[in-house]
Amino acid sequence: METNQATAAKPSSAPVSNVAILGFGTVGSSVARILMNHPSGRFRLTHVYNRDYKRKKVDWISDEQVSWTDDFKKIIDSDVDMVVEVMGGLNPTRDFVAQALSAGKSVVTANKQLIAHHGTELMQLAAKHGKQLLFGASVAGGIPVLSGLQEGLAGDRLYKINGILNGTCNYILSQIEQVGMPFATALEHAQQLGFAEANASDDIDGFDARAKLAILSLMGLRTHVHPNQIPCHSIRKCEVVDFLYARDLACTIRQISRAEVKDHKLSASVQPALVPLDSPLARVSGSQNLVVATGEWGGDTVFSGHGAGGNPTAVAVVSDLIAIAEGRVSEGHCQPIADAAEVTGDFTAQHYLRFTVKDKPGILFELTRIFKEHDLNVDSVLQKPGYAKTALPFAVILEPCLASQVELALKDFDSLDFLVQSAVSMPMLG
Ligand SMILES: NC(=O)c1ccc[n+]([C@@H]2O[C@H](COP(=O)([O-])OP(=O)(O)OC[C@H]3O[C@@H](n4cnc5c(N)ncnc54)[C@H](OP(=O)(O)O)[C@@H]3O)[C@@H](O)[C@H]2O)c1
Repeated sequence: METNQATAAKPSSAPVSNVAILGFGTVGSSVARILMNHPSGRFRLTHVYNRDYKRKKVDWISDEQVSWTDDFKKIIDSDVDMVVEVMGGLNPTRDFVAQALSAGKSVVTANKQLIAHHGTELMQLAAKHGKQLLFGASVAGGIPVLSGLQEGLAGDRLYKINGILNGTCNYILSQIEQVGMPFATALEHAQQLGFAEANASDDIDGFDARAKLAILSLMGLRTHVHPNQIPCHSIRKCEVVDFLYARDLACTIRQISRAEVKDHKLSASVQPALVPLDSPLARVSGSQNLVVATGEWGGDTVFSGHGAGGNPTAVAVVSDLIAIAEGRVSEGHCQPIADAAEVTGDFTAQHYLRFTVKDKPGILFELTRIFKEHDLNVDSVLQKPGYAKTALPFAVILEPCLASQVELALKDFDSLDFLVQSAVSMPMLG
């Protein structure tokens, strides 16, 4: 049963902070429920801002306690201490967050795009006004990965982060693998079940994950990178046959976000990759997210849990509110140490290549010629029986090489007349 925020238990000495929520959607309504019932009693929800707010009202928030408005100025002019931004998007959100900070209100947001694109400037604004801007919910939803990286692993020097940061991709890839359905059908299913947006490009083409990776890079690797600098490769080309070959290699396929910093050079990418079946990355399913942070002294640390959903995300938002209320946020906590001098999508790894060909003599000879021209060494060739000679898929595994070498070879493969479609390339994570 809901309790009323006026009756929630409150430690007598703790000051109460007034909170406004911008955006009463999936996350905003969950934040409101938690605040209304939070046992600390440290928060008083005083304002909810939403366009056309009358249709958003709920019977568990009384008009006596909370002001509903579609006039943002009312929030700015009020005695609100903390603003929760859960509207999403960049406009007018960026301006609202800047106005709130300038008016002396701390801000907590779940908005990865806002932080990935404008985080540095907004953090500077927060620092200028002696206020806080926290965004723990913006990466991996309810998993406290940002605070884990910043506080729990503060004693280490982190240099690498690998993660599965998009639940929609997990769902689609596991449908292709487990049910054997083509990509387009798996996407349709995901859309029907509400796991994917009507326009799912942000998820499947990697833009959602790269915004999160840019934030992880800033907070974990202390390296600033703009999301647009991070190369993305779509999962659209992954087919059932790729999972069959991956299985033969004791691997599966996941959308992997990874960033590694070395000598001020950041290698970062979001792309489908083969991951060993016995790695934690292979065991992630549904909306679960997972982040593996690697430090110079501590080795690998794994964070996993619910990467999305109203309640888990709202928990992360409220945890940030508590951190601010308790003064647990260190000054300059989110200042990057360095801008990456160079950003590249280049990693050295074994590579899986899948060719689909119209069968004829001399195919391997032609491919080998191009491999040789690009100094690429073949480890093995896999070919499953039972496919039509007019569209015959087979896989070539390359010895460790740079992704850029493979990219150049792929361009040359495109001129081969026996290819039915462009070759598919994925790195294999060790
Ligand atoms: N949902 C998740 O699992 C999750 C997880 C992690 C992070 N996040 C992030 O949390 C944020 C909110 O996500 P959500 O899923 O809660 O979205 P949502 O359900 O679409 O809620 C957004 C709310 O904000 C309102 N809104 C949007 N733009 C507005 C504007 N310009 N002026 C006034 N009101 C506006 C919407 O009103 P209407 O009803 O009129 O559209 C809606 O009520 C996003 O940044 C998202 O990336 C979400």
